[in-house]
Amino acid sequence: MTPLKEPGKQDLSFSTNPPRGAVAATARPAKHNQYSVKPDDGVAIAGKIAGESIDLPLPEKAPINKRASRHYPPLSKTEQVIVQLLPLKEPVESRKINEGGSSVVKKVSDGQQTIAVKLLKDKAVSIERRLIQQKNGEISGLNIPDHPNIVKTLAVLVRREAKNEYRLIQHGDPDFSLALYRPLACVLEYVDAIDLCESLVNKKVQPGLDLAVDIGRKICAALMCIHGQNLVYRDIKPENILYAPPKAPGEESMVKLTDMGLTKHLKKNDYTRTLCGTVDYAAPEVFSESKYNHTVDAWSLGVLLFVVSTGIRLYNSKDESKVYKEIIRFNGKNEAQKRLYMLSRFRFFHPELLNIMLSLFRKPRQRMALSEAKAALDQLAGSKQ
Ligand SMILES: Nc1ncnc2c1ncn2[C@@H]1O[C@H](COP(=O)(O)OP(=O)(O)OP(=O)(O)O)[C@@H](O)[C@H]1O
Ligand SMILES: [Mg+2]
Repeated sequence: MTPLKEPGKQDLSFSTNPPRGAVAATARPAKHNQYSVKPDDGVAIAGKIAGESIDLPLPEKAPINKRASRHYPPLSKTEQVIVQLLPLKEPVESRKINEGGSSVVKKVSDGQQTIAVKLLKDKAVSIERRLIQQKNGEISGLNIPDHPNIVKTLAVLVRREAKNEYRLIQHGDPDFSLALYRPLACVLEYVDAIDLCESLVNKKVQPGLDLAVDIGRKICAALMCIHGQNLVYRDIKPENILYAPPKAPGEESMVKLTDMGLTKHLKKNDYTRTLCGTVDYAAPEVFSESKYNHTVDAWSLGVLLFVVSTGIRLYNSKDESKVYKEIIRFNGKNEAQKRLYMLSRFRFFHPELLNIMLSLFRKPRQRMALSEAKAALDQLAGSKQ
């Protein structure tokens, strides 16, 4: 059995064989910085910026945050603009939380209010098309209503190149056009939690039935909310799930889906074609058929349940091109053969959890709906109490 190794080492994207991430490659730091602030701090900011958007030309030389620079590196230009637009009070502390394939995520705080700022990386021309897709997705994040299992996108910072003009786009902004503005960063609710991949790798959580049921129910709820807004998520994986275990017996864990980078508008009964996602979690039709729909998220949920309940990957190969072949082979099996394959990877599944995963690994038309998966997981949770 292959244990879940370093974050991202096996979670390969469709792009240029990067170690992690949906769009491009950057290795993640081995250790994750943690801070102790209230998880709800971002909500205060949400209220604050919920008014009109502001157009603000950036001064040639933005003032340097002197007090903060004694202890922390000075803010980047993009961060300075965000601090001015929100506004946050000086001194402002900014610290890197983590790095994804397409961004660096920072915790930015003025001591009273804390946000996460996702600074989008510039990409090579060859992947520009996908980058636009990604930015569209981040802006889709603004359309998602408040949900306890989804990280709130509070605003997106965009720049109008021609006028050197910056703007914070918020929910419902009427005259935003991607043609004129270039998205630079997302202002997100800060979540005081570690992503599930890191938690599993560093053994901060124990894989197993309890974790799978807990995560599964909450991610189902998040995906149902996203689909309800006529959006498809397309990037379910442990790296995109922030998880904090229950603080005391009987309390709830915190599970929040982050990274709206590949989220795309897709009406019910419509299809899309873009090749994107993370290989291990991708439904076979994403790369083997000419079109796919919302049901790809249900397949990825099945893979997530497998990983979280076992601590190992569903597929054997580390080589990306071989994983594609394994997915196709797995998809070609009938249900009994799939069951045998899964039991050959891990012997100790709860029979009901195994049934749920198998129902999520069906062909798109027969695939279990998220509402059914949620009901089955709720029942499993109830039967264990
Ligand atoms: N709101 C948040 N609060 C705290 N940490 C966060 C937040 N959003 C993201 N993170 C951390 O930053 C990491 C990278 O974020 P995210 O997945 O959004 O970046 P990305 O560049 O789009 O990733 P990918 O590699 O999938 O393209 C996450 O795995 C998580 O550890
Ligand atoms: Mg991500």
